[in-house]
Amino acid sequence: MIDLHCHLLPDWDDGPESWEEVEKMVEQASEDGIRKICLTPHIFRFSRYNDNLQVLNARFEEFFQRFSSFSQIEFYRGAEVFIHPDLVSVIEKKRLSLNGSEYVFVEFPSDQVPAGVKELFYQMQLAGYTPIISHPERNTVFGQQPELLYDLVNRGCLVQLTAMSLTGGFGHEVKKYAEQFLKYNLVHLIATDAHDSIRRKPVLSQAVEQAAKIVGPGKAEAMVGDVPQAILDNRIVPDVGPPISPGSRKRKLFAFLRK
Ligand SMILES: [Fe+2]
Repeated sequence: MIDLHCHLLPDWDDGPESWEEVEKMVEQASEDGIRKICLTPHIFRFSRYNDNLQVLNARFEEFFQRFSSFSQIEFYRGAEVFIHPDLVSVIEKKRLSLNGSEYVFVEFPSDQVPAGVKELFYQMQLAGYTPIISHPERNTVFGQQPELLYDLVNRGCLVQLTAMSLTGGFGHEVKKYAEQFLKYNLVHLIATDAHDSIRRKPVLSQAVEQAAKIVGPGKAEAMVGDVPQAILDNRIVPDVGPPISPGSRKRKLFAFLRK
């Protein structure tokens, strides 16, 4: 399995606090069957190093030195970029795409979908980037208005669910939203978004089992296999089928009730 979203750089964001903790996380990932990890440190979410490219590069360099001989897992450089009005130039200056590809994780605040997001994503796409929305199931606006997510997916965005959302670790509501997005065919990949070895571990297998109950085992496996591999290779992602409009389901239901 491939984990495309994981916080593994110590002393950078709210991820692991020490190299010992990173080692534990890497072991856990390996035991779960994860064979590739893309490191995705938060960018702009925390003010401490948010524009310090030198510090970020040094962290990555140290990580790759320490773990290059860890034969069970291959590691890749990426980032998770908090939504920002100047996203395109920042991505280019700071190498913030995933493994140098055209794909970029974009994180939203947990309680809003900024009004200018369509224009911002359009600008990203014009510049050759494909936004991947990080864990929209943890955003209350997307959860309550899935048609907003449908609209962005229709415009070419990809969507990543967090494994722990599907296994209930973020509560009942978030699990419900995650399942709803799977039902509407709005999800392209599942990743751990791990931050430590205790509360937010790098474990994917249980979430794949949960997703398989909704979308079937083949598609669930592609969400941690063929899809993230295509992203790492900078290829077009395998087709997961057309998104289903949440509104159309509601309309059908109301039409049925009116009969
Ligand atoms: Fe994250």
